[in-house]
Amino acid sequence: IHASVSVDRSAIVAPVHRRLFGSFVEHLGRCVYDGLYEPGHPTADADGFRLDVVELVKELGTSTIRYPGGNFVSGYRWEDGVGPRSERPRRRDLAWHSLETNEVGLDEFARWARLTGSEVMYAVNLGTRGVIEALDVLEYANGPAGTTLADLRIANGGTEPYDIRMWCLGNEMDGPWQVGHMSAEDYGKLASRTAKAMKIADPGLELVVCGSSGSGMPTFGDWERTVLEHTYDDVEFISCHAYYQESGGDLGSFLASSLDMEYFISTVVATADHVKYKLRHEKTIMLSFDEWNIWYLEEHQAREAELAAADTDGSREWPYAPRLLEDVYTAADAVVLGNLLITLLSHADRVTSASLAQLVNVIAPIMTEPGGEAWRQTTFFPFSVTSRLARGVVLRPRIEVGSYPTAKHGAAPLVDAVATFDEETGTAAVFLVNRSLSEAATVTVDLSSLGVTAITEALVLHDDDPYAKNTRDDPERVALCAVDAAIAAGVVTVELPAVSWVALAVS
Ligand code: AHR
Repeated sequence: IHASVSVDRSAIVAPVHRRLFGSFVEHLGRCVYDGLYEPGHPTADADGFRLDVVELVKELGTSTIRYPGGNFVSGYRWEDGVGPRSERPRRRDLAWHSLETNEVGLDEFARWARLTGSEVMYAVNLGTRGVIEALDVLEYANGPAGTTLADLRIANGGTEPYDIRMWCLGNEMDGPWQVGHMSAEDYGKLASRTAKAMKIADPGLELVVCGSSGSGMPTFGDWERTVLEHTYDDVEFISCHAYYQESGGDLGSFLASSLDMEYFISTVVATADHVKYKLRHEKTIMLSFDEWNIWYLEEHQAREAELAAADTDGSREWPYAPRLLEDVYTAADAVVLGNLLITLLSHADRVTSASLAQLVNVIAPIMTEPGGEAWRQTTFFPFSVTSRLARGVVLRPRIEVGSYPTAKHGAAPLVDAVATFDEETGTAAVFLVNRSLSEAATVTVDLSSLGVTAITEALVLHDDDPYAKNTRDDPERVALCAVDAAIAAGVVTVELPAVSWVALAVS
């Protein structure tokens, strides 16, 4: 395979938004409990936070972290998670059939996010609650001293307001699985009322209204249109959620998953702009891709269906911190994840916020063992490198390469790429994938318009076995390696092995 990638410094998409490197912490399985929070662990601090996990989150390079859900939020009372731990209620979490002890709540999470250097993005419950509870949690989190709820935060140790800027108006309200699921009409009206009230309290908030839970939802498109017709003036973002997996042994289609993400983004952009012009609005709505990842969802759904069917007398347990959604990722999964990041960057003109779902143990780049070690999944690497190297503006390259047929996405180009350029430092980065199952790709990357002369890093994520994984027993089986790359007259030549992701840094 030969591919030619030309990067023109004038082909600017948008600035590299740091918020594209967000992640997501939900009260789900062992993400919080026995994940980032484990009081008895040798590395735990006074709050019970594992500092080995904090270090890995910093290395991953997350910007925003969405919290506390996810499906969990639709049954959540935020006030359960504040105040003396011994008095916090224990409740059943209907979303994940688990026991919620509320040991961690907003105050703890705000402290943890500060430790990791991340910004909190908070989701309010619009499944089973409404306007007043959203206003209450806003006042608790951000209010200055002098009102009951702000003073309660101060009494609970949150001396300064948390100053949370981004707020999600519920979660996946289009999904029939959502506790409190509603129609687009009903949700649009509730989201508009909630947003208007929150903006009276603080006009500078950035609000995210729920879009679709996936491009395959039967209401996809119509949902966005209806919801935005109700909320266009009140919100800054509409959310997108997408998970991908290899199914039926079709690795070729899986490797082209980013084509679905492209379709998702362009459809939502078109729908949002349709509402903009139809209703004569001035501003442009941005996309918050606030759940995206690889998730072996079909397997999870099959297990759940079995458990639910077996529970004929309602005696199924409600376990604490169960091992749920602990997908172990392959080298191929990491290549797909790297490609999804390429797509997000390529659409940075409209996607200005994104959250990798999730962060620890639950469909996560970071895994932990209670009392034991923490390690990086394969998917950790493309995320951390892209977050570290992508600076300045996104440049959309022209790519000349052949395609291969896929059952799910039609013809898929064999190579995909995006570049970033930081004019101030004169440094650039190029991220590439080779989707071929069997052939290496020799790629020339013409960066001559950027005036760069040296390669400072050339990294590849690849394993001869695309199904190789990092496990507790073998946590470094798949890692980044150096790849040979040469530069002459501003043109880099690099060989991408079959099923690989490559990052180049040049200056
Ligand atoms: O990230 C796991 C789940 O996926 C979230 O709780 C939900 O929003 C989505 O369906």
